[in-house]
Amino acid sequence: MANQKTSNRKKEHIEICLTKDVAFKKSNGFDNYEFPHYAITEVDFDKINLSTKFFEKKINYPFIISCMTGGTSEAERINEKLAIVASELKIPIGVGSQRQALENDSFRSSYNIVRKNAKDVPVLGNIGAAQVASSKKIVDDIKFLIDLIQAEAMVIHLNPLQELFQKEGEINFRGLRKNLEKVISKISTPIIVKEVGSGISKEVAKELLEIGVSGIDVAGAGGTSWAAVELIRNKKENQFFKEWGLPTSYCVRTVAKLKKDYKFLLISSGGINDAVDIAKSISLGADLTASARIILKEIMFNGIESTISLINNWFSDVKKIMFLTGSQNIKQLQKVKLLKKSELF
Ligand SMILES: Cc1cc2nc3c(=O)[nH]c(=O)nc-3n(C[C@H](O)[C@H](O)[C@H](O)COP(=O)(O)O)c2cc1C
Repeated sequence: MANQKTSNRKKEHIEICLTKDVAFKKSNGFDNYEFPHYAITEVDFDKINLSTKFFEKKINYPFIISCMTGGTSEAERINEKLAIVASELKIPIGVGSQRQALENDSFRSSYNIVRKNAKDVPVLGNIGAAQVASSKKIVDDIKFLIDLIQAEAMVIHLNPLQELFQKEGEINFRGLRKNLEKVISKISTPIIVKEVGSGISKEVAKELLEIGVSGIDVAGAGGTSWAAVELIRNKKENQFFKEWGLPTSYCVRTVAKLKKDYKFLLISSGGINDAVDIAKSISLGADLTASARIILKEIMFNGIESTISLINNWFSDVKKIMFLTGSQNIKQLQKVKLLKKSELF
């Protein structure tokens, strides 16, 4: 049955992400940059402001718990814990693909448990591009998914590489642009488009912004390789495609150039694994950052309190970086011009 398949696949994804090496060998690119040390800083350390906005809602950190799971009973337990973390830190949280919720009502609670436990923070819905492309009633589908979790934004993920290596993958995306346009013209909830680890180029971002999307999450290469995950599921190996994708830092730096012509939220994700990745993302032009697998591992192996500490510790270091680069707030950190390492020697 199709719905059972969706649920099993999600289970296997979690299991593989927790136990196997599915990280890119190549880096997300941030290690090619240095912060310009600002020796004459007058920043008031105790008044550094890390808060920002997710569309209209104020949030405490420029950080999202990225879309991961839903549609299984295990996912429900994970989502509950992740939602408690998001609520405690006052940061947005995404649910994993809501495809299962369109197929039947077995695990709908695995999605709305997030809203139940994260009442005051932005919650992001999620569906794949293949489902958007093939649906004959896409506007109704997306409305239903938004209502299910009272989502502040709906995320549509582009994952052609993953679908290509998935046994049951769907590589027919014909109709995607047309259906995206339909959704955007009929639904007022902001639509964010993300990748899952291969990155969104400036050219693709421009096409999406022309259609009218409100946010781009580049989800670049350098973190979780979804080709690697699917290859493990298929018991196959292919080094070239495991490493396929545009590094996160490259995507952020180039897509940020579109800000002078378009108004949109730029999210940096794909291997965001520490404070340095976060601060460099923002200095390259990101409004927000997001992480997936590192958060999943922390919550599963070490629990809620430890995950809260991990994120708080990251931002405690981001604060130090802000002090040393002369940034009193996130807007000022966005103006810091990173140095290419090659310029330093
Ligand atoms: C277990 C797991 C499940 C995921 N499921 C989804 C999903 O349903 N929808 C989606 O847009 N992205 C999904 N992702 C991708 C992440 O949102 C993210 O784009 C990607 O893993 C890169 O980020 P990372 O390097 O921090 O893991 C999933 C990630 C993980 C680890």
